[in-house]
Amino acid sequence: MYLTLNSVNKRFDGANNRGRHQKETLKDISFEAAQGEFLCIVGPSGCGKSTLLNLVAGLVRPTSGEIVLDGKKITGPGAERAVMFQEAALYPWLNVIENVIFGLQATGCPKARQKEIAERYLKMVRLWNYREYPIHQISGGMKQRAALARALAMDSKLLLMDEPFSALDKQTIHILRAELEAIWETNKKTVLYVTHSVEEAVYFADRVIVMAENPGRVKEIIPIPITRPRDIEDAKFIALRKEILSQVQLSAWKSAENEFDETKEAPS
Ligand SMILES: Nc1ncnc2c1ncn2[C@@H]1O[C@H](COP(=O)(O)OP(=O)(O)O)[C@@H](O)[C@H]1O
Ligand SMILES: [Mg+2]
Repeated sequence: MYLTLNSVNKRFDGANNRGRHQKETLKDISFEAAQGEFLCIVGPSGCGKSTLLNLVAGLVRPTSGEIVLDGKKITGPGAERAVMFQEAALYPWLNVIENVIFGLQATGCPKARQKEIAERYLKMVRLWNYREYPIHQISGGMKQRAALARALAMDSKLLLMDEPFSALDKQTIHILRAELEAIWETNKKTVLYVTHSVEEAVYFADRVIVMAENPGRVKEIIPIPITRPRDIEDAKFIALRKEILSQVQLSAWKSAENEFDETKEAPS
């Protein structure tokens, strides 16, 4: 398999009112992604979605277990994985095109070629006319477009996205979703996409990984056999969205009950 997570566990050191402890954030996470597959990860807030993505990014080390990408064990960050967060991590002192080119400089490709590549991806995300704009003069949606162009320009094997559109307004989200979907259809990158929106997951995913919390774990992996581009008002779409939503809510409720039990157990 292209990307394999093999019994990945993650514990963080922490403290609560009962003293220091090790919080089991992720437990026994195993799944695979095929090359070119679009995998979405959904689950209640705090279940460890971002931690999981950071593990694959190599920004966080697993306590045990291993992650293998294209035959190589992940031991740290690498250029073959591009990461995109909720807030675009752009350099404020560079303009739009300079931000895209910045990532390419490390690859050692000639300057003229860097410009060509940046042009191609800025056109793809429809930012070409804004290439000379300073970052603080473009909207949130444009910032995420710029971050996407930069990530795509790196031509990494794996695109890791952590709720990249969730800070944007609804209208912008719908436009960017359609754009990303079309870009993915032409580029066929392998994507791991974290979202709290079940609708978004059903819109993008070949398969949806549903997580449960306390500890964070894979609850179910659900294939989405709907042709693209998908219509969020289509009956099949709505049925799948409802099914997955109920799974997510169920585990959120369960964990709320656990929290309640914990307060009862706490010494008075
Ligand atoms: N660096 C860290 N140190 C300690 N705890 C952490 C750290 N990063 C995440 N956590 C904990 O891991 C849990 C999962 O967090 P996160 O992965 O951000 O969840 P999600 O993205 O699903 O909302 C949370 O309880 C959070 O407090
Ligand atoms: Mg998160």
